[in-house]
Amino acid sequence: MWDICPMPAAGCFPGLSGGGDMWHDYYQMLEMTEEQARIRAEELRSMIAENNRLYYVDNAPKISDYDFDMLMNELIAIEKQFPRLVTPDSPTMKVGSDLSGGPVSGGGASSRRRNSAETAPREFVQYPHRYPMLSLGNTYDISEVEDFVQRTSKSVGNTGFTLSCELKFDGTAICLTYRKGRLFRALTRGDGVMGDDVTENARHIRNIPQHLCGSGYPDEFEIRGEIYMPYAAFDRLNAERERDEEAPFANPRNAASGSLKLLDPEEVGHRGLECTLYHIPGDSLPFSSHDEALKAASSWGLPVSDKRRICTDIHGIEDYIAYWDTERKYLPFATDGIVIKVNELALQKTLGYTSKFPRWAVAYKFKAEQALTRIVSIDYQVGRTGAVTPVANLEPVQLAGTVVKRATLHNPDQMQMLDIRIGDHVYVEKGGEIIPKITGVDTASRDGSEAVPVFPDTCPDCGTPLVRDEGEARVFCPNASGCPTQIKGKMLHFISRKAMNITAGDATVDQLYTLGLARFPADLYSLTKEDLLRMDGWKDRSAGRFLESIAASRKVPFGHVLFAIGIRYVGESTAKTLAAHFRDIHALMSATKEELLKVEDIGEVIADSILSYFADSRNMEQIERLEKAGLQFSVQEDDKPVSDSLKGMTIVISGVFSVSRDEMKRLISAHGGKSSSSISGKTAFLLAGEKPGPEKLQKAEALGIKILDEAGFMEMISGNAPEKGDSPEVETENRQLTLFG
Ligand code: IVH
Repeated sequence: MWDICPMPAAGCFPGLSGGGDMWHDYYQMLEMTEEQARIRAEELRSMIAENNRLYYVDNAPKISDYDFDMLMNELIAIEKQFPRLVTPDSPTMKVGSDLSGGPVSGGGASSRRRNSAETAPREFVQYPHRYPMLSLGNTYDISEVEDFVQRTSKSVGNTGFTLSCELKFDGTAICLTYRKGRLFRALTRGDGVMGDDVTENARHIRNIPQHLCGSGYPDEFEIRGEIYMPYAAFDRLNAERERDEEAPFANPRNAASGSLKLLDPEEVGHRGLECTLYHIPGDSLPFSSHDEALKAASSWGLPVSDKRRICTDIHGIEDYIAYWDTERKYLPFATDGIVIKVNELALQKTLGYTSKFPRWAVAYKFKAEQALTRIVSIDYQVGRTGAVTPVANLEPVQLAGTVVKRATLHNPDQMQMLDIRIGDHVYVEKGGEIIPKITGVDTASRDGSEAVPVFPDTCPDCGTPLVRDEGEARVFCPNASGCPTQIKGKMLHFISRKAMNITAGDATVDQLYTLGLARFPADLYSLTKEDLLRMDGWKDRSAGRFLESIAASRKVPFGHVLFAIGIRYVGESTAKTLAAHFRDIHALMSATKEELLKVEDIGEVIADSILSYFADSRNMEQIERLEKAGLQFSVQEDDKPVSDSLKGMTIVISGVFSVSRDEMKRLISAHGGKSSSSISGKTAFLLAGEKPGPEKLQKAEALGIKILDEAGFMEMISGNAPEKGDSPEVETENRQLTLFG
């Protein structure tokens, strides 16, 4: 959602994210006034909050770690220059949170509950951490690791010390508690103070032992580490998701944290997650060093990395970093850096902690992997908001496991800053985003045949002169209501899965537009079957399904509708926050800027965008039409099931249905059931659409689980289910399915 230009000027901003005292005072040079700094700090906090949520909760980051660290560095620099601007809830003061909802203290399974559909679901009981679960100060600059070693040396005086160098595993943090040698509890980091209880899921991770072996372990102790997904498991999972028309995970880290938060422990077991443990917290451990502690953990059967090295000086650390910067490409799992820890526990205690980090450890992060290729041409793409983005077509090149053919150049400033030419050899990188970006040009390889690209001054789609607002890096086509790409882009956004979830793609939107049948979202709600049959290749059945899907979208909750209408900067989670706060579109429309700014995570940029959206009479007209069409423009007070015909049933779905799989899942929960992705003895029945997965069918058969088709299911939830015993049999493509077993 954010189109971030994280740095106000080109270049690398050195410094430990949040380290506080190891960065250069870049912003002093910018001579910001306090008022300018206040506005920018708010903007940064809002961007950091949104990106934290995308990272920790949605597992779908939109910016790279590097860009995120740069945002944080900028905020730290501002707060350092203007200490009066520091707020107690500033992200510089706390670690990100992966909690699945607000804090609920864990008193046992009885406190488990779900929130209303309008807020983030809270699926796990939360418990406090015995010791806060902190993060690590990080740097991309080896000279700052040197500073760390020197500073440590100064603080500990004449006492000699050693350093443990370790891989930085790129997954999601976990804290395991063993009581009397048995796995007692597994908590995620959460917000560092409370974590989500994912014990049942952890029990299904193959290398986490349920019982310790050997002897000498404390009666009760905690051990912390990382859950990660090896590349092979990640590729397998994404292939499955694509086959099932689900969005693939952007990287193994998101796949790991998403999988660890699944509600179905058996499915977690199928995801191929692994664990490595790297820290035993505590004040009075029976060890003198970190290395000794991990060796003991290993002897008890706990998974500890054998890639650790004890170094005595910066040269040893540099060698370790240089070695793993290359070798990590051959590891079967992702690493994003090296962690350097003071090895002696007594010295760790002396050095202590800041509010966010231990002072006895630091992370050196690797820059993202790069590849060198050539720019063949540049396209200027118009997005749904009218932003015109330059996209380079590249000679295909292999990068971090995939072939890259296109890369974004973001905006004219970025093109100018890189001094890009068509024909240039360029470096491409993949960050948190799925689309890679160009980070540098190999100017030495120019031979004079390269051409300077010309950013168009008119829209490549509708010919309208492009505009660029003051302070805005991007160039826009202002013809929002007439530019075909913007109109179609808005429609595609409106119908997308996380918005109104109407099953159609580019081709349908294109045809609807070309034939003048639906140009604006509200037009969809007056389409008739006759209209649709005018479109190429459409038949009674496809038209019927499309109309059903449109009709079903009338039930989509307000938060999704708010996201669907496409207010700039209002992403999926901001829309949910606004819906939960204002409860109704009219309250939101009449909110003043002050009222908007009071809402959690809403800063100046979003508030202004909301105000200008509702100030536009064309938007108001669309909302009026959508409201008349029966869409949900207020929060429904209850998310009580429509019926309890599926109460207590766990249902597995497989195959293709006349409506989307998400809609089928929604129906299951609306009728009191629970959907699950894997079959077990607890499965009530397998709901099989067309071409169900053969493995699921086999497993259902082997376990004697009932198999039900869509029609049977619809009958069941409408209360017209045939009695057991008189169930008809239906033929599907592959095999005979028996209704109700
Ligand atoms: S030590 C008190 N060691 O990286 C801090 N962390 O970006 C204890 N991580 O929060 C953490 N590999 O989730 C440590 N070898 C390693 C690590 C590691 C990955 C994670 C961990 C940490 C995050 C900081």
